[in-house]
Order: sequence, then C-alpha cells, then structure tokens
Amino acid sequence: MHENTQSTSTRRSFLGAMGVGIAAGSVGALPRSAEASQRKEAPTFRFVFLPDIHLMHDRRSPQGMEAALRVADRLDPRPDFLLTGGDLIDSLRDKSPEEADELANLFLRIWKDNTDLPAHHMLGNHDAAGWRNDSFPKEHPEFGYAMLRGRLGMPGLHYSFDHGGWHFAVLHNIRLVEPKSYVSEFSEEQLNWLKTDLADSQGRPTILFGHFPPISAIEFFDGRAKHAEGTWTLSSQRMSRNPWDLVTATEGANVKAFFSGHIHRLDRVEAAGRTFICAGSVSASKWTGHDHETPEGITIVDCHDDGSFNYAYHDYGWEAT
Ligand SMILES: [Fe+2]
Repeated sequence: MHENTQSTSTRRSFLGAMGVGIAAGSVGALPRSAEASQRKEAPTFRFVFLPDIHLMHDRRSPQGMEAALRVADRLDPRPDFLLTGGDLIDSLRDKSPEEADELANLFLRIWKDNTDLPAHHMLGNHDAAGWRNDSFPKEHPEFGYAMLRGRLGMPGLHYSFDHGGWHFAVLHNIRLVEPKSYVSEFSEEQLNWLKTDLADSQGRPTILFGHFPPISAIEFFDGRAKHAEGTWTLSSQRMSRNPWDLVTATEGANVKAFFSGHIHRLDRVEAAGRTFICAGSVSASKWTGHDHETPEGITIVDCHDDGSFNYAYHDYGWEAT
C-alpha cells in the first residue's frame, strides 16, 4: 500500500506539481522527489476532503464556509467530488430542535449556493442533533444523527462508493454513550461490514475515511495528550480506542490511506503497514484563527490510474477576525 502519498516542501513547487490554479498557500507534510512530481503531473481525477467545517452563526463562519467551497469548486483541475469529514455544524448536539433546524438549513443553503459538485458526507461528534440538549426529544424524528443524515441524503452513517476505478469507504468511528458523551471506536459490526465491502471491491485502490483518526501523532505536540508522572494519557475521544482492529480488518485489501478530521491539525503516521493522515480542518480553531501551526484549509487529493495518489493541505486564504 501507499506507494507515494506526500505533499510538498514549498508552496510554489507543490502548486506547480498539482496544477492548483489559485494563489493561496498550501501546507505540506513531507517532501517529495522531482521525479515523482513529474510522473504525477496529470491526475486521473481529483477530490477534495473538507473536515470540520463547524458552521456557526458567528465568527464569520458562514462566509468562511462559502470561501472554502468556492475555492474547492474552482480548482483547476476541477474536483470530481467533495467529501466532508464530520463536524459539519458546530455544537449541533447542544441545540434545540428549532436551533438545529435553522443551522441545518443554513448549511444546506450555503452548500447549494457555492458548489454543484457531487458531494459525500460524514458526520462527527458535533453533528448528533440534540444529543446534549434535554429540550430535544429523543423520540423526535430528527434527533441525533437522523437530522443531517436525512437532510444530506446520506445512504447511511457508513457507506462506500466507487469512482474512477477507485473505491472509497466512509466509516463512522464513534459510539454515543450516556450521559451525553461519546467514545471513538471501530465497532465489530462496522468492521465486519468493511471486510465484506473491501472483498467486494475486488482489489481496487481504496481510501478510507473516518472523523476520528485511528492514530494521531500531532496530539503529542502540545495537543490533548498529557504527560504526568511518567505516563502519557490521551482520551479515546481524540483517537479511536482500537486502531489495531482496523488494521486486521483491512488485511490483504488494497487500502492506500485513512484520512481523518477531528484533530484540526496535520500529521501523517506510517504504522503497521498503513498510512494514517490527519487532514487539518476547514475552520482551523473553530473560526478563531490557526489551530497551533495549522491554518484553515482543505485537502486536495489527486488519484492516479496506477493506484498512487498525491495529497496536500491547501490554505484557501481565510483570515479570522
Ligand atoms: Fe471538529
């Protein structure tokens, strides 16, 4: 797996290699060779991953979401599709039915007004409508994930699709737990589904997605991992509690990488023969500015017909105020 995923050592060289026809900057993770850049000049197709939009009414968030979608929609080459990465709406879990309805409508309107590209969606820990608000009745037909799943027309909370000879599987690696909390994990049921799904994909190059990273390194760099009395501690609300189960479930499949959101920062972990990529976020620090070193961004992924891919985090030029 993972013949060559990388991004760039400089903004200019990356933009040239990727053919990104816009002037805003990109933030790379790893250098790549000139030879690889040449070979990847013409992508088979491109898609854009947009995790953690965190739409809210304030902090100019609606305008920021519009800017991200406009930039993604107008890339050259134009993407074949967009894929969100969970936490579409900030704190939808804390809203009343009326507040949630208003925000969901705002999200849909902004999306529709700024892009007509095919879209696939993923839901995160913020997206369970009313989960932490007692005024949102649990028997309400749009309680929890039902609201965005239904309004976005998602085929399920986890699902897969094929495009351009590639296979894509969107996982839902979260379990809501009482009272009003959650843990990130890959459920046995979902991993069984994934094994069957990957077997049915007949060896197509595959990219997996989940809101939570199966593993994250950046959390140990001034992130949520804490060190005390000789022990590192990191909550399973930050990364999945059972990454090894994902590794075993994908054994023998042609999986190229796992892209995630949630952390709002960038890293790439090569471990257990797999590639795990934390892909920043559209909202950075929830529309208040950069999250540590990571600006507001989108991740552009070019998939090639030899089963390789390039990716890079692209600063779409938003400035928080
Ligand atoms: Fe988030």
